[in-house]
Amino acid sequence: MKKRERFGSRFAVIAAMAGSAVGLGNIWRFPYVLGQYGGAAFILVYIAASLLVALPIFFAESVIGRRSGRDTYGAMQLLAPGTAWKWAGLLTILSPLLILSYYSVVGGWSVEFLFKSLSFTFTENASEAEVSGYFGHFISSTWQPILSHTLFMTMVAGVVLGGVKNGIERFSKVAMPLLFVLILFIVGYSLTLPGSRAGVEYLVKPDFSRLNADAYAAALGQAFFSLSLGVGTVLTYASYVKKEENLVVSGVGTAVSDLLFAMIAAFAVMPAVFAAGIEPGSGPGLVFQTLPYIFNKMSQAMPITSALVSIAFFLTILAAALTSAISMLEVGVAYLVDEKGMERRKATLLLAFGTWLLGVLCSLSFGPLAHIKLLGLSFFDFLDALCSNWLLPLGGVLFTLFVGWRMSKADVRDELTNGGTCNVRLFGLVYFLMRYLAPIGIVVVFLSNLFL
Ligand code: PHE
Repeated sequence: MKKRERFGSRFAVIAAMAGSAVGLGNIWRFPYVLGQYGGAAFILVYIAASLLVALPIFFAESVIGRRSGRDTYGAMQLLAPGTAWKWAGLLTILSPLLILSYYSVVGGWSVEFLFKSLSFTFTENASEAEVSGYFGHFISSTWQPILSHTLFMTMVAGVVLGGVKNGIERFSKVAMPLLFVLILFIVGYSLTLPGSRAGVEYLVKPDFSRLNADAYAAALGQAFFSLSLGVGTVLTYASYVKKEENLVVSGVGTAVSDLLFAMIAAFAVMPAVFAAGIEPGSGPGLVFQTLPYIFNKMSQAMPITSALVSIAFFLTILAAALTSAISMLEVGVAYLVDEKGMERRKATLLLAFGTWLLGVLCSLSFGPLAHIKLLGLSFFDFLDALCSNWLLPLGGVLFTLFVGWRMSKADVRDELTNGGTCNVRLFGLVYFLMRYLAPIGIVVVFLSNLFL
């Protein structure tokens, strides 16, 4: 078998893992979920969920991935041969592809909005009504969003074709730092808007009366989505991590970058939402409706600056979405290459095409196919609910049970402490969280999704 590729350095590992974690989940999903559950108090619950439940699962996936050095299915076959665990492996090859199909549609929206910014559509002589109505008009049309979705998927496949080191690593190392710079720039801009103070207060003054049981489930679901957990992404990337790398350090590095980025994104978006007088709980269109409105308003006073900021903003979203989407595709590609001996090129094209096709249905479900409902939801909403509420937590619970209860404690210790050379003191705590707290936390989310 051809020698498996490895990430070149610790920075490369964190850039790729954080690249997967930081994405539309932070910039598009976090602000609107936060808006639906009432601001600062939700943030506190989200931080707790990320550190106490999500991070241990991140470690669990890392352990399986690096221990086996294989794709999700191969890992289960190697570490628990001949058992039903292989189904966990197969499930987590399927779920990231399902996510990718609708994620690519939203990625396509960012492509479209970037083009619109580049052609000054939001900033030059457009009326307020045109700009704020643009999102609804665009997503419900037939061809345009499919075209953007196609462009997005082509870019994703292009990077994955390049392989781990030349494609994923190289792209992430440039895109991630750039992303931080761009988003900080936008925060600065957003905070200067008249009326933005209310948005800042919304983010820092907790109002616990708005936290209901639903909010806890939403916070955990968001933490899962945001850290790319339960779908084999972390596992697959960890299989490319060298033996001497410290898994706890790269896990914490990734989780902290992801949290930090979500917070920064909230400070970029919420003040603008308040300045625009838009309802923070207004749902998935929040970012795409608020920002163009703001850019349009500002262009009356500062045409050039607002055009540049608008370009920077949608470029940021696009770059973040790409590094995440790449990681979703890589899970399936790794499987076909490792287990089926398929060429990387063929595997990438095959899976990209399949998910693209499913994505077309998601895209059409905002327009011509809007009347088709599955369990009362449009196709897009159905897939999102299926993945975020069910498949991610299910995958997560399987991985942590595998590490906590199926693998031997000695093996887990060996992997997390690099044979007893690091994190020795921390191990007990991490193991406890993986074995008890994380699975229990997830089961609570499951049950609350079922009964609330
Ligand atoms: N974490 C990514 C984001 O925040 C989404 C993602 C989910 C990526 C699952 C990979 C796997 O956008």
